[in-house]
Amino acid sequence: MSDVSNCKEGLVDLTDCISLFKDIPDNSIDLVITSPPYDNIEGAGYGKGTKDVLFLKLYSEFFDEVLTEIYRVLSPTGQVFLNLKSGTINKTLVTPHWIEFLESFKKFKLKSYIIWKYSGSFDSTKARFHLDYEVIYHLSKTDDITIYHDKDDHDPLTSVWNIKHHIKDRLHPVQMPEALAEHMIKRGSKEGDLVLDPFAGSGTTLVVAKKLKRRYLGSEINPDHYANIIKRLEAVK
Ligand SMILES: C[S@@+](CC[C@H](N)C(=O)[O-])C[C@H]1O[C@@H](n2cnc3c(N)ncnc32)[C@H](O)[C@@H]1O
Repeated sequence: MSDVSNCKEGLVDLTDCISLFKDIPDNSIDLVITSPPYDNIEGAGYGKGTKDVLFLKLYSEFFDEVLTEIYRVLSPTGQVFLNLKSGTINKTLVTPHWIEFLESFKKFKLKSYIIWKYSGSFDSTKARFHLDYEVIYHLSKTDDITIYHDKDDHDPLTSVWNIKHHIKDRLHPVQMPEALAEHMIKRGSKEGDLVLDPFAGSGTTLVVAKKLKRRYLGSEINPDHYANIIKRLEAVK
């Protein structure tokens, strides 16, 4: 086991996040930003397939393990932005609130419940209102946290964030817009802080962290996505 929290600039591994967590010491991460996989959990024994009740059970067990690790590695002054969205099982809406019942989740302090509101997401069904939002749980380990916000900043710190979803030249099916990652990184960390994304995807969190002079740690299990992360990080000077 080697301590990856000492990295000078950043580090990203092609691996299951559970392996990466093994190399991260307790209390060493300043900020976690992550959008976990929505419909497949590689490494948890359940691949891409029909979303059903068994999926939800395995997903929540896997998630309990991930949240336990996030809690362990988070610094007492650290923050987490956990992005989840509603989905459907058998044409019934499943909201992300199930996560609030996990024992691992209950250990955190829920500081804010944020709605990321976007336009341009139109479902093909006429039997439900459009899913034009996602949820972001803002969590911490203690009350000793700071939302960074200086006097020249006109952001009113509301809990509904209107940020465009559209991305030109998308590399990943559920890629996060850089503007969203930037908002969370600026509010949740300062230069030199260590930012973790265990489900890095196309690497948006890591790329924006590097642009904003934060250190970064990430894992991504899919080799094609991992290759994109490396390319994107190399392009940041
Ligand atoms: C919702 S996407 C993240 C998208 C990312 N925020 C972006 O901007 O591109 C989740 C990612 O987690 C990856 N993943 C799934 N299971 C994983 C695991 N056990 N460890 C690490 N990554 C995993 C998937 O391959 C997928 O790319």
